[in-house]
Amino acid sequence: MQIKPRRSVLYMPGSNERALQKAKTLAADCYIFDLEDAVAPDAKQLARQQVCQAVKAGGYGERELIIRINSLDSEWGRDDLAAAMAVKPDAILVPKVSSAADLEAFKAVDCEIWAMMETPLAMLNAAEIAASPIVQTFVMGTNDLARETGASLENGRRAMVPWLMNCVAAARAFGLDIIDGVYNDFRHEPGLADECEQGVEFGMTGKTLIHPDQIGPCNEAFSPSESEVERAREIIAAFELPENRGKGAISLNGRMVELLHCEMAEKTVALAEAIAQRQG
Ligand code: COA
Ligand code: MG
Repeated sequence: MQIKPRRSVLYMPGSNERALQKAKTLAADCYIFDLEDAVAPDAKQLARQQVCQAVKAGGYGERELIIRINSLDSEWGRDDLAAAMAVKPDAILVPKVSSAADLEAFKAVDCEIWAMMETPLAMLNAAEIAASPIVQTFVMGTNDLARETGASLENGRRAMVPWLMNCVAAARAFGLDIIDGVYNDFRHEPGLADECEQGVEFGMTGKTLIHPDQIGPCNEAFSPSESEVERAREIIAAFELPENRGKGAISLNGRMVELLHCEMAEKTVALAEAIAQRQG
Protein backbone atom coordinates (compact mmCIF):
# COMPACT_ATOMS: atom_id res chain seq x y z
CA MET A 1 0.00 0.00 0.00
CA GLN A 2 1.39 3.40 -1.07
CA ILE A 3 0.41 6.41 1.05
CA LYS A 4 1.68 9.95 0.58
CA PRO A 5 1.95 11.75 3.90
CA ARG A 6 -0.07 14.96 3.66
CA ARG A 7 0.03 15.93 7.32
CA SER A 8 1.31 19.48 6.94
CA VAL A 9 0.46 21.67 3.96
CA LEU A 10 2.17 25.08 4.16
CA TYR A 11 0.92 28.09 2.24
CA MET A 12 3.26 30.81 1.12
CA PRO A 13 2.70 33.95 -0.94
CA GLY A 14 4.15 33.43 -4.41
CA SER A 15 5.44 36.99 -4.23
CA ASN A 16 7.72 36.07 -1.28
CA GLU A 17 10.85 34.70 -2.95
CA ARG A 18 12.56 34.16 0.39
CA ALA A 19 9.72 31.91 1.57
CA LEU A 20 9.81 29.90 -1.68
CA GLN A 21 13.51 29.23 -1.12
CA LYS A 22 13.19 28.64 2.61
CA ALA A 23 10.61 25.95 1.95
CA LYS A 24 13.40 23.69 0.64
CA THR A 25 14.76 23.45 4.17
CA LEU A 26 11.44 22.99 5.98
CA ALA A 27 9.74 19.71 6.91
CA ALA A 28 6.20 20.20 5.62
CA ASP A 29 4.79 17.38 3.47
CA CYS A 30 3.27 19.74 0.88
CA TYR A 31 3.63 23.37 -0.14
CA ILE A 32 0.98 25.59 -1.61
CA PHE A 33 2.60 28.37 -3.61
CA ASP A 34 -0.14 30.97 -3.62
CA LEU A 35 -1.02 33.29 -6.46
CA GLU A 36 -4.44 34.13 -5.04
CA ASP A 37 -5.42 35.82 -1.78
CA ALA A 38 -1.93 36.08 -0.22
CA VAL A 39 -0.71 38.13 -3.20
CA ALA A 40 -1.61 41.79 -3.74
CA PRO A 41 -2.95 42.75 -7.22
CA ASP A 42 0.20 44.63 -8.24
CA ALA A 43 2.38 41.62 -7.35
CA LYS A 44 0.38 39.01 -9.31
CA GLN A 45 2.72 38.88 -12.32
CA LEU A 46 5.86 38.67 -10.22
CA ALA A 47 4.32 35.92 -8.07
CA ARG A 48 3.37 33.87 -11.14
CA GLN A 49 6.91 34.14 -12.53
CA GLN A 50 8.62 33.28 -9.24
CA VAL A 51 6.36 30.35 -8.48
CA CYS A 52 6.70 28.81 -11.93
CA GLN A 53 10.46 29.27 -11.80
CA ALA A 54 10.61 27.59 -8.36
CA VAL A 55 8.48 24.61 -9.45
CA LYS A 56 10.50 24.19 -12.63
CA ALA A 57 13.84 24.38 -10.82
CA GLY A 58 12.71 21.94 -8.12
CA GLY A 59 14.92 21.12 -5.14
CA TYR A 60 12.02 20.30 -2.81
CA GLY A 61 12.73 16.59 -2.52
CA GLU A 62 9.66 14.44 -2.01
CA ARG A 63 7.45 17.30 -0.91
CA GLU A 64 4.42 17.87 -3.11
CA LEU A 65 4.21 21.26 -4.78
CA ILE A 66 0.80 22.78 -5.32
CA ILE A 67 0.05 26.05 -7.11
CA ARG A 68 -3.06 27.94 -6.03
CA ILE A 69 -4.26 29.95 -9.00
CA ASN A 70 -6.63 32.90 -9.10
CA SER A 71 -10.24 32.25 -9.99
CA LEU A 72 -10.84 31.86 -13.73
CA ASP A 73 -13.33 34.73 -13.40
CA SER A 74 -10.55 37.09 -12.36
CA GLU A 75 -8.23 38.90 -14.74
CA TRP A 76 -5.28 36.61 -13.77
CA GLY A 77 -6.87 33.14 -13.65
CA ARG A 78 -6.42 32.00 -17.27
CA ASP A 79 -2.78 33.08 -17.41
CA ASP A 80 -2.13 31.47 -14.01
CA LEU A 81 -3.57 28.19 -15.25
CA ALA A 82 -1.58 28.18 -18.49
CA ALA A 83 1.67 29.04 -16.68
CA ALA A 84 1.06 26.45 -13.95
CA MET A 85 0.27 23.68 -16.45
CA ALA A 86 3.53 24.37 -18.27
CA VAL A 87 5.67 23.65 -15.18
CA LYS A 88 3.77 20.54 -14.05
CA PRO A 89 3.26 20.94 -10.29
CA ASP A 90 1.89 17.97 -8.34
CA ALA A 91 -1.45 19.75 -8.15
CA ILE A 92 -3.29 22.91 -9.05
CA LEU A 93 -5.50 24.26 -6.26
CA VAL A 94 -8.68 25.91 -7.52
CA PRO A 95 -10.12 28.63 -5.27
CA LYS A 96 -13.79 29.12 -4.42
CA VAL A 97 -15.22 26.00 -6.04
CA SER A 98 -18.99 26.08 -5.46
CA SER A 99 -20.26 23.28 -7.70
CA ALA A 100 -19.05 20.39 -9.83
CA ALA A 101 -19.59 22.59 -12.91
CA ASP A 102 -16.84 24.93 -11.63
CA LEU A 103 -14.36 22.08 -12.16
CA GLU A 104 -15.21 21.40 -15.82
CA ALA A 105 -12.66 23.94 -17.04
CA PHE A 106 -9.92 21.78 -15.48
CA LYS A 107 -10.87 18.53 -17.22
CA ALA A 108 -7.82 18.49 -19.50
CA VAL A 109 -5.23 19.39 -16.85
CA ASP A 110 -2.67 16.63 -16.46
CA CYS A 111 -1.85 17.05 -12.78
CA GLU A 112 -4.10 16.59 -9.74
CA ILE A 113 -6.82 19.15 -9.12
CA TRP A 114 -7.45 20.18 -5.54
CA ALA A 115 -10.52 22.23 -4.63
CA MET A 116 -10.81 25.01 -2.04
CA MET A 117 -14.00 24.37 -0.07
CA GLU A 118 -14.71 27.86 1.19
CA THR A 119 -18.06 29.15 -0.06
CA PRO A 120 -21.51 28.62 1.48
CA LEU A 121 -22.65 26.92 -1.73
CA ALA A 122 -19.72 24.50 -1.59
CA MET A 123 -20.94 23.36 1.84
CA LEU A 124 -24.32 22.54 0.29
CA ASN A 125 -22.80 20.94 -2.82
CA ALA A 126 -19.92 19.06 -1.16
CA ALA A 127 -21.09 15.62 -2.33
CA GLU A 128 -21.50 16.58 -5.99
CA ILE A 129 -18.11 18.33 -5.97
CA ALA A 130 -16.41 15.29 -4.42
CA ALA A 131 -18.14 13.03 -6.95
CA SER A 132 -16.50 14.88 -9.85
CA PRO A 133 -13.72 12.71 -11.32
CA ILE A 134 -11.71 15.90 -11.87
CA VAL A 135 -10.96 16.56 -8.18
CA GLN A 136 -8.61 14.57 -5.92
CA THR A 137 -8.39 16.58 -2.70
CA PHE A 138 -10.47 19.03 -0.68
CA VAL A 139 -8.80 21.93 1.12
CA MET A 140 -10.97 23.65 3.72
CA GLY A 141 -10.93 27.46 3.45
CA THR A 142 -12.27 28.31 6.87
CA ASN A 143 -11.36 32.01 6.78
CA ASP A 144 -13.41 32.61 3.63
CA LEU A 145 -16.23 30.50 5.03
CA ALA A 146 -16.29 32.58 8.21
CA ARG A 147 -16.33 35.79 6.18
CA GLU A 148 -19.05 34.68 3.79
CA THR A 149 -21.37 33.05 6.31
CA GLY A 150 -20.81 35.11 9.44
CA ALA A 151 -20.08 31.90 11.34
CA SER A 152 -17.33 32.19 13.93
CA LEU A 153 -13.98 30.37 14.14
CA GLU A 154 -13.91 30.82 17.93
CA ASN A 155 -14.83 28.32 20.65
CA GLY A 156 -13.21 25.32 19.06
CA ARG A 157 -14.87 26.17 15.71
CA ARG A 158 -18.14 24.75 17.02
CA ALA A 159 -20.19 26.72 14.48
CA MET A 160 -18.19 25.13 11.64
CA VAL A 161 -18.35 21.52 12.79
CA PRO A 162 -21.39 20.51 10.72
CA TRP A 163 -19.78 21.84 7.53
CA LEU A 164 -16.38 20.37 8.30
CA MET A 165 -17.89 16.93 8.96
CA ASN A 166 -20.12 17.20 5.90
CA CYS A 167 -17.01 17.81 3.79
CA VAL A 168 -15.17 14.91 5.47
CA ALA A 169 -18.06 12.58 4.62
CA ALA A 170 -18.25 13.85 1.02
CA ALA A 171 -14.49 13.55 0.52
CA ARG A 172 -14.27 10.07 2.00
CA ALA A 173 -17.33 8.84 0.11
CA PHE A 174 -15.41 9.42 -3.12
CA GLY A 175 -11.90 8.49 -1.94
CA LEU A 176 -10.54 12.05 -1.62
CA ASP A 177 -8.05 13.42 0.88
CA ILE A 178 -9.23 16.39 2.91
CA ILE A 179 -6.94 19.02 4.40
CA ASP A 180 -8.21 21.14 7.29
CA GLY A 181 -8.24 24.97 7.35
CA VAL A 182 -5.53 27.22 8.81
CA TYR A 183 -5.06 28.38 12.39
CA ASN A 184 -4.44 32.12 12.14
CA ASP A 185 -2.89 32.82 15.54
CA PHE A 186 0.50 31.42 14.53
CA ARG A 187 2.42 32.50 17.64
CA HIS A 188 0.00 30.57 19.89
CA GLU A 189 1.20 27.00 19.90
CA PRO A 190 -1.26 25.48 22.41
CA GLY A 191 -4.16 26.74 20.29
CA LEU A 192 -2.65 25.19 17.18
CA ALA A 193 -2.05 21.89 18.96
CA ASP A 194 -5.71 21.79 20.05
CA GLU A 195 -6.94 22.50 16.55
CA CYS A 196 -4.62 19.86 15.03
CA GLU A 197 -5.95 17.33 17.52
CA GLN A 198 -9.49 18.32 16.56
CA GLY A 199 -8.64 17.84 12.88
CA VAL A 200 -7.33 14.34 13.60
CA GLU A 201 -10.50 13.57 15.54
CA PHE A 202 -12.64 14.80 12.62
CA GLY A 203 -10.85 12.47 10.19
CA MET A 204 -8.87 15.11 8.31
CA THR A 205 -5.83 13.91 6.33
CA GLY A 206 -3.77 16.89 7.44
CA LYS A 207 -3.90 20.64 8.01
CA THR A 208 -3.04 23.73 6.02
CA LEU A 209 -0.53 26.02 7.74
CA ILE A 210 0.67 29.60 7.37
CA HIS A 211 3.98 29.70 9.26
CA PRO A 212 7.04 27.42 9.53
CA ASP A 213 6.66 27.22 13.33
CA GLN A 214 3.37 25.35 12.81
CA ILE A 215 4.96 22.44 10.91
CA GLY A 216 6.44 20.50 13.84
CA PRO A 217 3.30 20.35 16.01
CA CYS A 218 1.15 19.56 12.97
CA ASN A 219 3.36 16.69 11.77
CA GLU A 220 3.36 15.33 15.30
CA ALA A 221 -0.43 15.44 15.60
CA PHE A 222 -1.15 13.81 12.25
CA SER A 223 1.47 11.05 12.59
CA PRO A 224 0.33 7.76 14.09
CA SER A 225 1.83 7.39 17.57
CA GLU A 226 4.22 4.54 18.40
CA SER A 227 1.55 2.75 20.37
CA GLU A 228 -0.96 3.09 17.53
CA VAL A 229 1.55 1.58 15.11
CA GLU A 230 2.38 -1.21 17.55
CA ARG A 231 -1.30 -2.05 17.98
CA ALA A 232 -1.81 -1.95 14.20
CA ARG A 233 1.01 -4.45 13.71
CA GLU A 234 -0.56 -6.72 16.36
CA ILE A 235 -3.87 -6.68 14.53
CA ILE A 236 -2.26 -7.49 11.17
CA ALA A 237 -0.22 -10.32 12.74
CA ALA A 238 -3.31 -11.76 14.45
CA PHE A 239 -5.24 -11.97 11.16
CA GLU A 240 -2.26 -13.73 9.57
CA LEU A 241 -2.31 -16.58 12.11
CA PRO A 242 -3.39 -19.87 10.47
CA GLU A 243 -6.29 -20.28 12.89
CA ASN A 244 -7.67 -16.84 11.97
CA ARG A 245 -7.40 -17.09 8.21
CA GLY A 246 -10.67 -16.35 6.44
CA LYS A 247 -12.32 -15.02 9.61
CA GLY A 248 -14.19 -11.69 9.64
CA ALA A 249 -13.91 -11.08 13.38
CA ILE A 250 -11.47 -12.34 16.00
CA SER A 251 -10.70 -11.77 19.64
CA LEU A 252 -7.47 -9.93 20.47
CA ASN A 253 -6.46 -8.99 24.04
CA GLY A 254 -10.08 -9.20 25.12
CA ARG A 255 -11.48 -6.99 22.35
CA MET A 256 -13.30 -7.78 19.16
CA VAL A 257 -11.29 -6.96 16.08
CA GLU A 258 -12.86 -7.11 12.63
CA LEU A 259 -11.38 -7.35 9.17
CA LEU A 260 -12.14 -3.65 8.70
CA HIS A 261 -9.83 -2.91 11.63
CA CYS A 262 -7.17 -4.90 9.84
CA GLU A 263 -7.57 -2.70 6.76
CA MET A 264 -7.31 0.41 8.96
CA ALA A 265 -4.23 -1.08 10.60
CA GLU A 266 -2.59 -1.61 7.22
CA LYS A 267 -3.16 2.06 6.39
CA THR A 268 -1.69 3.15 9.73
CA VAL A 269 1.43 1.06 9.17
CA ALA A 270 1.79 2.26 5.56
CA LEU A 271 1.54 5.89 6.69
CA ALA A 272 4.05 5.35 9.51
CA GLU A 273 6.47 3.70 7.10
CA ALA A 274 6.12 6.51 4.55
CA ILE A 275 6.80 9.06 7.31
CA ALA A 276 9.83 7.12 8.56
CA GLN A 277 11.20 6.91 5.03
CA ARG A 278 10.85 10.66 4.64
CA GLN A 279 12.74 11.33 7.86
CA GLY A 280 15.43 8.72 7.29
N1 COA B 1 6.41 29.82 4.20
C1 COA B 1 7.76 29.81 4.16
N2 COA B 1 8.53 30.59 4.95
C2 COA B 1 7.89 31.43 5.76
C3 COA B 1 6.48 31.49 5.84
C4 COA B 1 5.73 30.65 5.01
N3 COA B 1 4.40 30.67 5.03
N4 COA B 1 6.13 32.41 6.77
C5 COA B 1 7.28 32.91 7.26
N5 COA B 1 8.34 32.33 6.66
C6 COA B 1 9.77 32.56 6.93
C7 COA B 1 10.13 34.04 6.89
O1 COA B 1 10.50 34.37 5.57
C8 COA B 1 11.28 34.09 7.84
O2 COA B 1 12.41 33.55 7.19
P1 COA B 1 13.88 34.10 7.53
O3 COA B 1 14.00 34.10 9.02
O4 COA B 1 14.76 33.11 6.86
O5 COA B 1 13.90 35.45 6.93
C9 COA B 1 10.90 33.09 8.91
O6 COA B 1 9.99 32.17 8.28
C10 COA B 1 10.24 33.67 10.13
O7 COA B 1 9.14 34.44 9.73
P2 COA B 1 8.45 35.47 10.73
O8 COA B 1 9.27 36.71 10.81
O9 COA B 1 8.16 34.77 12.00
O10 COA B 1 7.08 35.76 10.02
P3 COA B 1 6.71 37.03 9.16
O11 COA B 1 6.30 38.11 10.11
O12 COA B 1 7.80 37.33 8.19
O13 COA B 1 5.44 36.53 8.33
C11 COA B 1 3.22 35.97 7.82
C12 COA B 1 4.21 36.27 8.93
C13 COA B 1 1.89 35.52 8.42
C14 COA B 1 3.00 37.23 6.97
C15 COA B 1 3.81 34.85 6.94
O14 COA B 1 4.06 33.77 7.78
C16 COA B 1 2.99 34.45 5.75
O15 COA B 1 3.02 35.10 4.72
N6 COA B 1 2.26 33.30 5.81
C17 COA B 1 1.55 32.71 4.72
C18 COA B 1 0.31 33.51 4.36
C19 COA B 1 -0.46 32.86 3.25
O16 COA B 1 0.11 32.28 2.34
N7 COA B 1 -1.81 32.93 3.30
C20 COA B 1 -2.65 32.37 2.30
C21 COA B 1 -3.48 31.24 2.77
S1 COA B 1 -4.38 31.49 4.26
MG1 MG C 1 -9.73 31.67 0.24
